[in-house]
Amino acid sequence: MKTAILAVDPRKPSVKILQAAAEVIRRGGLVAFPTETVYGLGADALNGKACCSIFEAKGRPHDNPLIVHVSEPEEIARFAYTGDQPLLPVLSERFMPGPLTVILPKKEIIPDDVTVGLSTVAIRCPSHPVAHRLIELAGVPIAAPSANRSGRPSPTRAAHVTEDMNGRIDMILDAGEADVGLESTVISLKGDRITLLRPGFITLDDLLSVTPNVEVNPAVLSTLKNGELAESPGMKYRHYAPAAPVTIVRGSNEAVLTFFTERLKGGAAVLCFQEDLARLNDPAWSERVVSFGSENDLQEQAHSLFDALRSFDHRGVSHIYARETASNGLGLALTNRLLRACAFDILSLEDEK
Ligand code: TXA
Ligand code: MG
Repeated sequence: MKTAILAVDPRKPSVKILQAAAEVIRRGGLVAFPTETVYGLGADALNGKACCSIFEAKGRPHDNPLIVHVSEPEEIARFAYTGDQPLLPVLSERFMPGPLTVILPKKEIIPDDVTVGLSTVAIRCPSHPVAHRLIELAGVPIAAPSANRSGRPSPTRAAHVTEDMNGRIDMILDAGEADVGLESTVISLKGDRITLLRPGFITLDDLLSVTPNVEVNPAVLSTLKNGELAESPGMKYRHYAPAAPVTIVRGSNEAVLTFFTERLKGGAAVLCFQEDLARLNDPAWSERVVSFGSENDLQEQAHSLFDALRSFDHRGVSHIYARETASNGLGLALTNRLLRACAFDILSLEDEK
């Protein structure tokens, strides 16, 4: 299959191009499109066969359900039962359109191929103008996981999508870099209680400002024990991983930088903060030292993390040592992704003494 790659203005996208993309969706094809979080791989959410081809193109396990994207928050009630959800109006008012995905009891109209047979459906209303207009023009909700091959870091630029999906899908809409850089916050609702299943740009504190009854699913920061059931199936897989294995290095600033220096001398690579670059400035290492942003700028780190992880694949490195980042605010989402990228391999320098 030849993949058409079309550039669009992120703020004022050409209607002609979006019409063509919408036509591909309507006839059961696959279109990768930008959202404010990451690029998604879209198909008509009401067409089971089209949704099956998403799983094939991604190499996605068949027990991992897709998110349904709608153009307006009001559309949610067409695809899910919202009657018994006292928190939904305020969540919708505060955070939609935007990077929040809500799990709700599904209506019959959503095919089992989207939800992999679950009784619930994940729904989100993206704020990116291209995503918004594409869904509107398609006239159907769009099922879309992140547009990466399964297990790889989510794409934050069209070039990442091309790397993984060229020849496997009909079209890629290139609207530059995604703003947020990490996937949406995923929550489930039960009465007046929220369970945080996947942290994202909408933080735990944002959710706590709506209700004190927020529970963080244990899988957010730890690996599931054998036999434990994943409430959000996507959380059980190794994820976001570059080709080389990753280890998070924990310790004092001095200890971590000394350790990084030693490993760089041995040929390994380092994922570090911008502030570390001055110390790790030997020209012999320049290809193997990648910053994902300033230590105190969590938004910049979120924006750059997946791009930085992917960049190691072009550098032929055998092992990546990474900085541990904050776990408060947006740091919870960053830490969640880094823990999966390293398959929970953490080296604590303090413990070694
Ligand atoms: O920002 C995002 O959410 C991006 C953009 C494209 O919208 N999409 C995305 O989709 O990250 P994906 O498929 O990579 O992640 C969806 C997550 C998975 O962890 C999946 O298991 C979970 O949502 N999920 C989907 N439906 C669910 C359901 N009914 N119950 C529990 N978890 C569900
Ligand atoms: Mg994904």
